[in-house]
Amino acid sequence: MNHLIDIMDLKKSEIEELINVANDIIANPQKYSEVCRGKKLATLFFEPSTRTRLSFEAAMYELGGNVIGFSEAQSSSASKGESVADTAKVISCYADIIAMRHPKEGAPLVAAMNASIPVINAGDGGHNHPTQTLTDLLTISREKGGIDNITIGFCGDLKFGRTVHSLINALMMYSGVKIVLISPSELKLPVYSKDVLDKNGIEYVETTDLEAVLPDLDILYMTRVQKERFFSEEEYLRLKDSYVLTPEKLECAKSDLSILHPLPRVNEISVKIDSDPRACYFKQVLNGKYVRMALIMKLLGVEA
Ligand code: CP
Repeated sequence: MNHLIDIMDLKKSEIEELINVANDIIANPQKYSEVCRGKKLATLFFEPSTRTRLSFEAAMYELGGNVIGFSEAQSSSASKGESVADTAKVISCYADIIAMRHPKEGAPLVAAMNASIPVINAGDGGHNHPTQTLTDLLTISREKGGIDNITIGFCGDLKFGRTVHSLINALMMYSGVKIVLISPSELKLPVYSKDVLDKNGIEYVETTDLEAVLPDLDILYMTRVQKERFFSEEEYLRLKDSYVLTPEKLECAKSDLSILHPLPRVNEISVKIDSDPRACYFKQVLNGKYVRMALIMKLLGVEA
């Protein structure tokens, strides 16, 4: 059975294949409009989402398939105590593929171990978000013409930001990548992620000063401070506006910088930047739909 639980489940060649298919879907959408006719995607979202759930649903509809599912745990039998394992077994009777988001790390893996259909991790706690990573890689590739030899700065909540952890793991597969980690000391990248960088011999620096490193960056990956993962409201309020990207701060950045953000944005990028040609975060949203189309096709074993 094919599942996608962690971006490391994919070889570099498979990621490149997904990027190529997504680019072909962008160029020739009609070619793909019926490939999932008769197939059903189940979106099982135990945690809120706008982009991931709706891009999965749009992706399946644009492939000619159908969608069932729920968008909150309270409207599922999880609220009555049903386990993730049983839910996965049940949904396997109704659908051909599952996309699951869950606040508990490892829940999509439990689903994959119990389902008889492919399971995609649509975000588990502070752990992993592999389809956001595919979205990010497609966006970097389209903006920069490739992923090798980039200098990328991750800014904000590097402790709880699962998209950061997943993307760093994926970047290990590419050459000449330099990583700049920009965060308050309370929200630094976890040691286990830094171990990955060390083991792979990846050059990285840690700093609290965004403006000092901005001129060096090809990609700036902004993140929101993850309110829902804090134990203390006071601590969240103290840290939430640690970084606010403004047009003034961008003056020292490269003219071909690409600004990414997995979204949702709270306050960390001024809306004045949205019209700057370097802002790529809404293009990134659209890319997410195309790469999820490519992933659904791969896991269902269908071709155009
Ligand atoms: N980027 C992302 O995962 O957004 P949602 O939480 O809206 O799905």
